[in-house]
Amino acid sequence: MHIGIFSIQPYDIPCFDQANKKFAHQLTYSNNRLCLETVSLAQGFDAVCVFVHDELNRTVLTQVKENNIHLIALRCAGFNNVDIEAANELEINVVRFPRYTPYAVAEHAVGLMLALNRKIHRAYARVKESNFSLNGLLGFDMHGKTVGIIGTGFIGNVTAKILAGFGVKLLAYDIAPDPDIEKLGVQYVSLEELYTQSDIITLHCPLTPDTHHLINKTSLEKMKDGVMLINTSRGAVLDTTATIDGLKSGKIGYLGLDVYEQEGDLFFKDLSDKVIQDDIFERLLTFPNVLVTGHQGFFTHEAMSNIANTTLENISLCTSGCPTDNLVTKQLFTF
Ligand code: NAI
Repeated sequence: MHIGIFSIQPYDIPCFDQANKKFAHQLTYSNNRLCLETVSLAQGFDAVCVFVHDELNRTVLTQVKENNIHLIALRCAGFNNVDIEAANELEINVVRFPRYTPYAVAEHAVGLMLALNRKIHRAYARVKESNFSLNGLLGFDMHGKTVGIIGTGFIGNVTAKILAGFGVKLLAYDIAPDPDIEKLGVQYVSLEELYTQSDIITLHCPLTPDTHHLINKTSLEKMKDGVMLINTSRGAVLDTTATIDGLKSGKIGYLGLDVYEQEGDLFFKDLSDKVIQDDIFERLLTFPNVLVTGHQGFFTHEAMSNIANTTLENISLCTSGCPTDNLVTKQLFTF
């Protein structure tokens, strides 16, 4: 199979080259994001492999199909950037990689909680300048606090397991509750109850029409004053403008983001010598109680190796007509 791998970063290439020793596909790397402007580059491949910021809307998918490509392999868990309905109609197979390791993202989410609580990001900068004052660095014991987890799939599950070790009370909301997680002491509650009772809320649901701006002005009003919000799922689960208002009023006491609504124009690029044009993002960075990382939750050795292996395996399985649980489209369409 000749695979066009888009949105490639230098750190991806050794992982794919290593994994491909087992599969022997022909790999062509492109650092272009696959979208309307670049779809003409998706030619001469049997399959294309894309990441979180590639935009495969109906028009792009139609062009992909016209180029005789029948398989799109996402090397990420979320598939909100692909029009799945159009892919089904066009009979283009879409596969994803749901299990990176979930540990990478869950550990990052907990890392954001700890850093924000104990203000480690601020302490680091202070100590570098020989300022050893503790003023403004007061934190709280995690022990005894209530943490609400929205979405208890792979990542939410691991997050609950890690947090159980802190002695927190764990609440959860999911449209498909997992009875196993209740053995950990996790209590499923309504969203309303989760909002009103939680000191910390961490988002681990996918971005869908139902979860778009789930965290908005109305839901924020229900939360405790000074709540900590952590989002490592997808940026648009949280309404950024409402979040900024919440930060200004003190409703939100701490905000940890690994994802951002408009991150496609920013993340995974070195823009350090550019003027950022996104005023909303720049406003977020002015708050001392906001910690943003650039979608790096997945970025561990283990996850990168798993991503390359499973992505190539997904492609091999699909082309040999074997069903895989990682298929996102409704059936395996013939090539
Ligand atoms: P998963 O599919 O195992 O779990 C998602 C859970 O959310 C499921 O239990 C599902 O029932 C639940 N859910 C769906 N709609 C919901 C709703 N309306 N309200 C509440 N819960 C809902 O997915 P996984 O692997 O746990 O990943 C979760 C999300 O994390 C992904 O969709 C992706 O957006 C994000 N992610 C972020 C990464 C990063 O680097 N920051 C890396 C990998 C995933």
